[in-house]
Amino acid sequence: MKYSVKAGAAEKVSADCVAVVVFNKGQLSAEAQSIDATTTKAISKVTASEDFTGKLGDTLVLHNPSGVTAKRVLLLGAGEEKKLGALQAAKMLKAGLKAAGKLRAASLHFALGSLQLSDRDYPWLATRLAQEAETSSYRYNETKSKKSPPPATRSVSLSPPSGAQRKKLEAALKNGQVIGRGINNARQLGNLPGNICTPSYLAEQALELGTKQRAITTRVLSEKQMARLGMDSLLSVSAGSDQEAKLIIMHYKGAKTDSKPYVLVGKGITFDTGGISLKPGAAMDEMKFDMCGAASVLGTMTAVAELKPAINVIGVIAAAENMPSGRATKPGDIVTSMAGKTIEILNTDAEGRLVLCDALTYVERFKPRTVIDIATLTGAAVATFGNHATALLSNDQKLANSLLECGEASLDRAWQLPLWDEYQPLLSSNFADIANIGGPRAGTITAACFLSRFTEKQKWAHLDIAGSAWFSGAQKGATGRPVGLLLEYLLRQKA
Ligand code: BES
Ligand code: MN
Ligand code: ZN
Repeated sequence: MKYSVKAGAAEKVSADCVAVVVFNKGQLSAEAQSIDATTTKAISKVTASEDFTGKLGDTLVLHNPSGVTAKRVLLLGAGEEKKLGALQAAKMLKAGLKAAGKLRAASLHFALGSLQLSDRDYPWLATRLAQEAETSSYRYNETKSKKSPPPATRSVSLSPPSGAQRKKLEAALKNGQVIGRGINNARQLGNLPGNICTPSYLAEQALELGTKQRAITTRVLSEKQMARLGMDSLLSVSAGSDQEAKLIIMHYKGAKTDSKPYVLVGKGITFDTGGISLKPGAAMDEMKFDMCGAASVLGTMTAVAELKPAINVIGVIAAAENMPSGRATKPGDIVTSMAGKTIEILNTDAEGRLVLCDALTYVERFKPRTVIDIATLTGAAVATFGNHATALLSNDQKLANSLLECGEASLDRAWQLPLWDEYQPLLSSNFADIANIGGPRAGTITAACFLSRFTEKQKWAHLDIAGSAWFSGAQKGATGRPVGLLLEYLLRQKA
């Protein structure tokens, strides 16, 4: 997709389709008024008849309106003008792009120069437009014989508001495009089935990113190398699988070598059967999404390499497949983690924390400024938040606040849960230093408590994306979250 800034009156813009805003009760934006005036009231007519009322998220296409250069006018319902904020604008853009996607319009112009958002500036709108255009053009085709046709839209342009700096808007569009691509990247990896997207496949993707991008260097540790490091907790998860576990480390260098890095650690369980603590059959296919944390790290690193912030970032992926077999770990087995703590594995289905704890210990060597792990860790997070919020837990309130803020800013939102000491005793074991499950209550919190035992020396936050990483049902598919949040966070940091 190509993005550009295009000035001029809405009715004179050359494009296959021009989009203008209509507010509640048919109240026209300046651009809509301007088209209305040249078309002998083509827009007022549809609003007067109440065929289109300007309700947020509604759209209507007018074909060949006389006096307008564009072949079509797309009306975007924006709801109440005073209530138009970031969330509403994103919804409006998404709906507009969806409607435009059904037309065979190769070029699409958004005449939004007069639009005022209550809580964001115009460059934000430009970024969001490109991000939404990018994500709305994503199609999953990989494993289908009948591929969906490529989206008709090939270029998207945006009107500048009066007095805008063109360069700034162009940069904003570019950023949105890169963020959108990063999100699509994560979605694609998430959507691939477990027999294609294995730990080795994730490693190949990361190595490929390292060869394509000069600023990124990738290293992949084999099971043998992990064994030498004492990562027996991580290795206990892949023990039952024919797929070799991989620890993938991607270094992005955007600052001096001695500048402490920001570290991301993703859970990359490419399929989670539960192991010997086998999961029930219903919807087990969705456990191919159990590597969405890893996918978000890869998607974020791809975007970071293109946006080139002046910081150092390290993306780590703990990749393994959780399978039952004669060699699989059994409930009651005790392993020693890389940190030296012994773990009683009471449930082999609580495997995410077992791979993450060793990865979190491993990253201590980088002396991170902050460490953020991203994991589809608990069913309890789905029960608590549904699809909308990512669960956030942290041992550093400043980091937590910053992530909450970035979630709001990117509309990729998180909500904090307590990581109080009172929950820690739930992980007591009679036979080891710690048990890998904390009982049926407060599952998202006890999972984070487990990880907190391995991050005491670091400023750490945990994002449980079990609810936000994918949709079930008819909409089944990965969302690419929380790439938006992570990029917002990284782009705000300094070396
Ligand atoms: N990958 C799952 C968590 C999950 C389950 C995410 C359902 C999304 C939907 C994780 O490995 C797991 O199985 N967690 C268990 C932990 C329990 C055994 C303590 C869970 O949440 O049931
Ligand atoms: Mn599990
Ligand atoms: Zn899992």
